[in-house]
Amino acid sequence: MNNVIIACDFDSKEKLMNFLKDFKGLNPYLKIGMEMYYKEGPSLVRELKNLGFKIFLDLKLHDIPNTVKKAMKQIGELGVDITNVHAEGGIEMMRAAREGLNESQNGKNTKLIAVTVLTSINEDILHNELLVDKTYNVADAASRLALNAKSAGLDGVVCSSFEAKIMSDLGLISVCPGIRLKGDSSQDQKRVATPSVAKENHATFIVVGRSITGSLNPVEAYKKCLEEFN
Ligand code: C5P
Repeated sequence: MNNVIIACDFDSKEKLMNFLKDFKGLNPYLKIGMEMYYKEGPSLVRELKNLGFKIFLDLKLHDIPNTVKKAMKQIGELGVDITNVHAEGGIEMMRAAREGLNESQNGKNTKLIAVTVLTSINEDILHNELLVDKTYNVADAASRLALNAKSAGLDGVVCSSFEAKIMSDLGLISVCPGIRLKGDSSQDQKRVATPSVAKENHATFIVVGRSITGSLNPVEAYKKCLEEFN
Protein backbone atom coordinates (compact mmCIF):
# COMPACT_ATOMS: atom_id res chain seq x y z
CA MET A 1 0.00 0.00 0.00
CA ASN A 2 1.36 3.40 -0.99
CA ASN A 3 -0.19 5.27 1.95
CA VAL A 4 2.85 6.71 3.74
CA ILE A 5 3.52 10.17 2.30
CA ILE A 6 7.02 11.59 2.80
CA ALA A 7 6.96 15.34 3.54
CA CYS A 8 9.77 16.62 1.28
CA ASP A 9 10.63 19.76 3.23
CA PHE A 10 13.95 20.51 1.52
CA ASP A 11 15.12 23.93 0.42
CA SER A 12 16.35 22.87 -3.02
CA LYS A 13 15.68 20.36 -5.77
CA GLU A 14 19.27 19.09 -5.49
CA LYS A 15 18.70 18.06 -1.88
CA LEU A 16 15.41 16.37 -2.75
CA MET A 17 16.87 14.45 -5.69
CA ASN A 18 19.83 13.39 -3.58
CA PHE A 19 17.46 12.14 -0.87
CA LEU A 20 15.38 10.19 -3.41
CA LYS A 21 18.42 8.33 -4.86
CA ASP A 22 18.24 5.70 -2.13
CA PHE A 23 14.51 5.07 -2.71
CA LYS A 24 14.89 3.52 -6.17
CA GLY A 25 12.27 0.81 -6.69
CA LEU A 26 10.25 1.86 -3.62
CA ASN A 27 8.38 4.65 -5.38
CA PRO A 28 7.23 6.54 -2.27
CA TYR A 29 4.32 9.02 -2.22
CA LEU A 30 5.77 12.55 -1.87
CA LYS A 31 4.37 15.73 -0.32
CA ILE A 32 5.59 18.92 -1.99
CA GLY A 33 4.79 21.99 0.10
CA MET A 34 5.06 25.72 -0.28
CA GLU A 35 8.80 25.93 0.36
CA MET A 36 9.79 23.60 -2.48
CA TYR A 37 7.03 24.80 -4.80
CA TYR A 38 7.82 28.48 -4.46
CA LYS A 39 11.52 27.74 -5.01
CA GLU A 40 11.30 25.26 -7.87
CA GLY A 41 7.85 25.87 -9.39
CA PRO A 42 5.56 23.57 -11.38
CA SER A 43 8.46 22.13 -13.40
CA LEU A 44 9.62 20.18 -10.34
CA VAL A 45 6.15 18.66 -9.92
CA ARG A 46 6.04 17.72 -13.64
CA GLU A 47 9.48 16.14 -13.36
CA LEU A 48 8.54 14.08 -10.29
CA LYS A 49 5.30 12.94 -11.96
CA ASN A 50 7.28 11.93 -15.07
CA LEU A 51 9.58 9.89 -12.82
CA GLY A 52 6.46 8.02 -11.63
CA PHE A 53 6.01 9.47 -8.12
CA LYS A 54 2.58 10.05 -6.60
CA ILE A 55 2.36 13.66 -5.41
CA PHE A 56 0.40 15.44 -2.69
CA LEU A 57 0.76 19.14 -3.60
CA ASP A 58 0.22 20.91 -0.28
CA LEU A 59 -0.40 24.57 -1.22
CA LYS A 60 -3.51 25.20 0.95
CA LEU A 61 -5.37 27.60 -1.35
CA HIS A 62 -7.60 30.25 0.30
CA ASP A 63 -9.02 33.12 -1.80
CA ILE A 64 -12.27 34.17 -3.48
CA PRO A 65 -14.01 31.31 -5.32
CA ASN A 66 -13.23 32.56 -8.84
CA THR A 67 -9.50 32.90 -8.12
CA VAL A 68 -9.31 29.49 -6.44
CA LYS A 69 -11.15 27.86 -9.34
CA LYS A 70 -8.68 29.26 -11.88
CA ALA A 71 -5.68 28.38 -9.74
CA MET A 72 -6.99 24.82 -9.27
CA LYS A 73 -7.41 24.47 -13.02
CA GLN A 74 -3.66 25.13 -13.32
CA ILE A 75 -2.86 22.69 -10.50
CA GLY A 76 -5.09 20.11 -12.20
CA GLU A 77 -2.93 20.32 -15.33
CA LEU A 78 0.00 19.01 -13.27
CA GLY A 79 -1.90 15.75 -12.70
CA VAL A 80 -1.09 15.64 -8.99
CA ASP A 81 -2.74 12.90 -6.93
CA ILE A 82 -3.85 15.00 -3.92
CA THR A 83 -4.07 18.74 -3.38
CA ASN A 84 -5.77 21.01 -0.84
CA VAL A 85 -7.56 24.20 0.19
CA HIS A 86 -8.41 25.83 3.51
CA ALA A 87 -11.96 24.89 4.58
CA GLU A 88 -12.11 28.36 6.13
CA GLY A 89 -12.50 29.74 2.59
CA GLY A 90 -16.10 28.50 2.74
CA ILE A 91 -18.28 25.98 0.92
CA GLU A 92 -18.60 28.01 -2.28
CA MET A 93 -14.82 28.34 -2.51
CA MET A 94 -14.34 24.60 -1.96
CA ARG A 95 -16.92 23.80 -4.66
CA ALA A 96 -15.14 26.19 -7.02
CA ALA A 97 -11.85 24.42 -6.29
CA ARG A 98 -13.37 21.08 -7.32
CA GLU A 99 -14.82 22.65 -10.47
CA GLY A 100 -11.40 24.04 -11.39
CA LEU A 101 -9.82 20.58 -11.09
CA ASN A 102 -12.65 19.03 -13.10
CA GLU A 103 -12.22 21.59 -15.88
CA SER A 104 -8.53 20.74 -16.29
CA GLN A 105 -7.24 17.98 -18.56
CA ASN A 106 -5.41 16.03 -15.86
CA GLY A 107 -7.14 16.92 -12.57
CA LYS A 108 -10.39 15.00 -12.74
CA ASN A 109 -9.01 12.20 -10.58
CA THR A 110 -7.06 14.48 -8.23
CA LYS A 111 -8.26 14.05 -4.66
CA LEU A 112 -9.18 17.39 -3.10
CA ILE A 113 -8.90 17.70 0.66
CA ALA A 114 -9.41 20.56 3.12
CA VAL A 115 -7.35 21.87 6.00
CA THR A 116 -9.79 22.39 8.89
CA VAL A 117 -8.20 24.15 11.89
CA LEU A 118 -4.42 24.48 11.63
CA THR A 119 -2.57 22.64 14.40
CA SER A 120 -0.91 25.96 15.27
CA ILE A 121 -4.30 27.48 16.23
CA ASN A 122 -5.24 27.00 19.88
CA GLU A 123 -8.42 27.94 21.80
CA ASP A 124 -6.99 31.33 22.74
CA ILE A 125 -6.38 32.30 19.10
CA LEU A 126 -9.70 30.77 18.02
CA HIS A 127 -11.70 32.85 20.48
CA ASN A 128 -9.69 36.04 20.91
CA GLU A 129 -8.19 36.58 17.45
CA LEU A 130 -10.59 34.77 15.11
CA LEU A 131 -13.64 35.67 17.24
CA VAL A 132 -15.17 32.18 17.15
CA ASP A 133 -17.92 32.03 19.77
CA LYS A 134 -16.60 30.68 23.09
CA THR A 135 -19.21 27.87 23.10
CA TYR A 136 -17.17 26.18 20.31
CA ASN A 137 -13.80 24.58 20.94
CA VAL A 138 -11.15 23.62 18.36
CA ALA A 139 -12.62 20.13 17.88
CA ASP A 140 -16.09 21.61 17.24
CA ALA A 141 -14.66 24.02 14.70
CA ALA A 142 -12.71 21.22 12.99
CA SER A 143 -15.79 18.97 12.79
CA ARG A 144 -17.94 21.75 11.36
CA LEU A 145 -15.30 22.61 8.75
CA ALA A 146 -15.04 18.91 7.83
CA LEU A 147 -18.81 18.77 7.33
CA ASN A 148 -18.58 21.86 5.12
CA ALA A 149 -15.87 20.12 3.08
CA LYS A 150 -18.09 17.08 2.69
CA SER A 151 -21.06 19.12 1.56
CA ALA A 152 -18.84 20.90 -0.98
CA GLY A 153 -18.04 17.47 -2.47
CA LEU A 154 -14.44 17.23 -1.26
CA ASP A 155 -12.79 13.87 -0.68
CA GLY A 156 -11.40 14.44 2.77
CA VAL A 157 -9.38 16.50 5.20
CA VAL A 158 -5.94 17.06 6.65
CA CYS A 159 -6.21 16.29 10.37
CA SER A 160 -4.30 14.82 13.28
CA SER A 161 -4.49 11.03 13.68
CA PHE A 162 -6.61 11.58 16.76
CA GLU A 163 -9.45 13.03 14.63
CA ALA A 164 -9.13 10.47 11.82
CA LYS A 165 -11.82 8.16 13.19
CA ILE A 166 -14.40 10.98 13.20
CA MET A 167 -13.51 11.76 9.57
CA SER A 168 -13.81 8.13 8.52
CA ASP A 169 -17.25 7.98 10.20
CA LEU A 170 -18.19 11.02 8.08
CA GLY A 171 -17.09 9.15 4.95
CA LEU A 172 -14.04 11.37 4.45
CA ILE A 173 -10.46 10.32 3.81
CA SER A 174 -7.90 11.63 6.31
CA VAL A 175 -4.34 12.69 5.58
CA CYS A 176 -2.56 12.87 8.92
CA PRO A 177 0.70 14.68 9.75
CA GLY A 178 2.22 14.75 13.24
CA ILE A 179 3.66 11.22 12.96
CA ARG A 180 6.76 10.04 14.80
CA LEU A 181 8.40 6.64 15.04
CA LYS A 182 8.71 5.45 18.62
CA GLY A 183 11.64 7.14 20.36
CA ASP A 184 11.91 10.06 17.90
CA SER A 185 11.65 13.63 19.21
CA SER A 186 8.29 15.34 18.59
CA GLN A 187 10.15 18.64 17.81
CA ASP A 188 7.63 21.43 17.17
CA GLN A 189 4.62 19.08 16.75
CA LYS A 190 2.20 19.30 19.68
CA ARG A 191 0.22 16.06 19.34
CA VAL A 192 2.17 13.22 17.76
CA ALA A 193 1.17 9.63 17.06
CA THR A 194 3.10 6.59 15.85
CA PRO A 195 2.08 4.98 12.55
CA SER A 196 0.41 2.14 14.50
CA VAL A 197 -1.70 4.58 16.54
CA ALA A 198 -2.68 6.31 13.28
CA LYS A 199 -3.70 2.92 11.92
CA GLU A 200 -5.81 2.17 15.02
CA ASN A 201 -7.55 5.53 14.47
CA HIS A 202 -8.40 4.64 10.83
CA ALA A 203 -6.16 7.26 9.19
CA THR A 204 -6.21 6.84 5.39
CA PHE A 205 -2.74 8.34 4.75
CA ILE A 206 0.03 9.42 7.11
CA VAL A 207 2.43 12.27 6.31
CA VAL A 208 5.90 11.72 7.74
CA GLY A 209 8.66 14.30 7.49
CA ARG A 210 11.56 14.41 9.91
CA SER A 211 11.14 10.86 11.26
CA ILE A 212 12.21 9.80 7.75
CA THR A 213 14.14 12.75 6.27
CA GLY A 214 16.11 13.35 9.49
CA SER A 215 16.84 9.68 10.12
CA LEU A 216 20.33 8.21 9.78
CA ASN A 217 18.75 5.61 7.51
CA PRO A 218 15.75 7.19 5.74
CA VAL A 219 14.89 4.08 3.70
CA GLU A 220 14.75 1.90 6.82
CA ALA A 221 12.62 4.53 8.61
CA TYR A 222 10.26 4.68 5.62
CA LYS A 223 9.95 0.89 5.52
CA LYS A 224 9.26 0.85 9.26
CA CYS A 225 6.43 3.38 8.79
CA LEU A 226 4.95 1.27 5.98
CA GLU A 227 5.19 -1.90 8.02
CA GLU A 228 3.60 -0.36 11.14
CA PHE A 229 0.86 1.46 9.25
CA ASN A 230 -0.13 -1.56 7.15
O1 C5P B 1 8.65 16.73 9.96
P1 C5P B 1 7.19 16.47 10.25
O2 C5P B 1 6.84 14.98 10.18
O3 C5P B 1 6.72 17.13 11.51
O4 C5P B 1 6.44 17.16 9.01
C1 C5P B 1 5.04 17.21 8.91
C2 C5P B 1 4.64 17.84 7.62
O5 C5P B 1 3.22 18.01 7.60
C3 C5P B 1 5.23 19.22 7.38
O6 C5P B 1 5.44 19.37 5.97
C4 C5P B 1 4.14 20.16 7.86
O7 C5P B 1 4.17 21.39 7.20
C5 C5P B 1 2.88 19.38 7.48
N1 C5P B 1 1.67 19.72 8.27
C6 C5P B 1 1.62 19.58 9.65
N2 C5P B 1 0.46 19.91 10.34
C7 C5P B 1 -0.61 20.37 9.69
C8 C5P B 1 -0.57 20.51 8.30
C9 C5P B 1 0.60 20.18 7.61
O8 C5P B 1 2.57 19.14 10.26
N3 C5P B 1 -1.72 20.63 10.35
